[in-house]
Amino acid sequence: MRSIGAKRLGSSTRTQDFTTLLAVFCVLMKVTTCRAWHYSGRIATSRQMLSGIGPLLRRKSFIIHPATSTKSRQHISITANAAAEGSRGSAAVAQDLKNRETQKERQGKLDLNPPRGTRDFYPEDMRTRSWLFELWRQVARDHAFEEYDAPVLESEDLFVRKAGEEVTEQLYNFEDKGGRRVALRPEMTPSLARMVMAKRNGLVMPVKWFSFPQCWRYERMTRGRRREHYQWNMDVWGVSGVEAEAELLSAITTFFKRVGLTAEDVGIKVSSRGVLAEVLAALDVPDAKFSATCVLVDKLEKLPLEAIQGDLTALGLEESVVRRLLDVVQSRDFPSLETAIGAKSTALAQLRQLFEYARAYNFEEWLVLDASVVRGLAYYTGIVFEAFDRKGELRAICGGGRYDKLLETFGGEALPAVGFGFGDAVIMELLESKGLVPSLSLGLDALVFAMEAGLQGIAIRAATSLRAAGLTVDLQLEARKTKWALKHADRLGATYVVIVGPEEVAGCNVRVKEMATGQQHVVAIANLESWISATFTTTSPESAFADSVNRS
Ligand code: HAM
Repeated sequence: MRSIGAKRLGSSTRTQDFTTLLAVFCVLMKVTTCRAWHYSGRIATSRQMLSGIGPLLRRKSFIIHPATSTKSRQHISITANAAAEGSRGSAAVAQDLKNRETQKERQGKLDLNPPRGTRDFYPEDMRTRSWLFELWRQVARDHAFEEYDAPVLESEDLFVRKAGEEVTEQLYNFEDKGGRRVALRPEMTPSLARMVMAKRNGLVMPVKWFSFPQCWRYERMTRGRRREHYQWNMDVWGVSGVEAEAELLSAITTFFKRVGLTAEDVGIKVSSRGVLAEVLAALDVPDAKFSATCVLVDKLEKLPLEAIQGDLTALGLEESVVRRLLDVVQSRDFPSLETAIGAKSTALAQLRQLFEYARAYNFEEWLVLDASVVRGLAYYTGIVFEAFDRKGELRAICGGGRYDKLLETFGGEALPAVGFGFGDAVIMELLESKGLVPSLSLGLDALVFAMEAGLQGIAIRAATSLRAAGLTVDLQLEARKTKWALKHADRLGATYVVIVGPEEVAGCNVRVKEMATGQQHVVAIANLESWISATFTTTSPESAFADSVNRS
């Protein structure tokens, strides 16, 4: 079949005649049509042609135009315009097509942004992330916790709870190719519970583990809240006393101190769900309503009071119960909490004990008793805590609490547990705003480069021996001018540049430039490794290696 140019099919009578002819042809062939049917590339197969006469009859005009993509194969493109669009001239239609093609082309281009709410970590971002993780890791290790990990993809069941938590509503869940319901973990605690449960009999208690999971939540994006974040988690299993909470708070405050934050920058609100549990028990509210009540009370800060009151009533709590609950959570110090729940309260005694331990650890100044802190996760059963910036500009920095019954909800035997999750996003906002993020260089000890291609072998040997000595060495991989190499070394923050030049090599030497001072030294190749290594442990390389160094 021959291609027929659109130009030849103007709005002339000839065109109309032709389109009428074509319409008849198409009807006869029962060509498939759609709103803007565009078939291009090759002649329609009979199967493609064998359907839909009706829509075609409603069309007013047809245009055939040459497809532009394949020169070698003759083919046609047919566009049918819906009658509703009115009778437009072929120029307008051609323009329309062009627009669509451009749009398609645009759509075809790769979107260079990561999915909304997620982040790319370019090397400089990665440096900062590693710096943060390393601080966290060190604190966890100093407290004798061990690192663990789990898959980011879990069975959906692990996270679906019925207490109306945000975290369940924000689940990234889907069906995999095997028809299983799965989810990207929104938090680590259920995975940890699964792991502990699976090996429960073989684990030596207490289990003290930490991890850095990436967590996924379909969140409304606000400052410090994203759709993916990393969380430092530390958890203790098998300890029912507040000694475990105290140890965890010690880790958190140790981190704050190490990074340069003070108790004037950050506070940690502490309370206990035991307070609410005692109030509800005294008012004969069934246990079954405990988790959902806590999740609602947690929303007090975010939603209007009337809305929460309404939800609590809808949950089946009488108005007097609701009033009592709202009254108790106003307490901000021990005397008022004691007045609210009585001196014999177990929850109160635990809180007092925790503050006592905090004094011994020397982090009491960071703690703030605040009965309104309940936390939004259904599984907490006892002490809960949440770090906040004292300026009140950011959302919670970290949060955690005791969850002694989580294993029961998975059909296991209860096992006391407490832990926290500490996100990377909010703390980085805070540290940046306070200028507490150091500028981190690549940590490059030396750049080695050969002035001529023929000297690359010697440069390789030099780099290899320096690396074997434990130094971080960048080897110049392509021919460059000395000036460029020195500039590059400066950009990378290298301490030394080892220049492998023909003159020096002729004397079995290389030239070493100290980037900080600009001083240059001719160093015997045989001594290069020990010369450079020693400069990192002595204040004066010259004094340590006077014999092997010839000042240039
Ligand atoms: P969480 O309060 O849901 O607790 O999260 C803990 C921390 O993770 C928050 O305080 C915040 O730093 C960070 N975070 C949470 N969601 C986001 C987000 N969308 N964007 C950025 N950061 C976020 C838990 O996840 C519990 N599993 C913690 C825990 C461990 N409890 C006991 N053990």
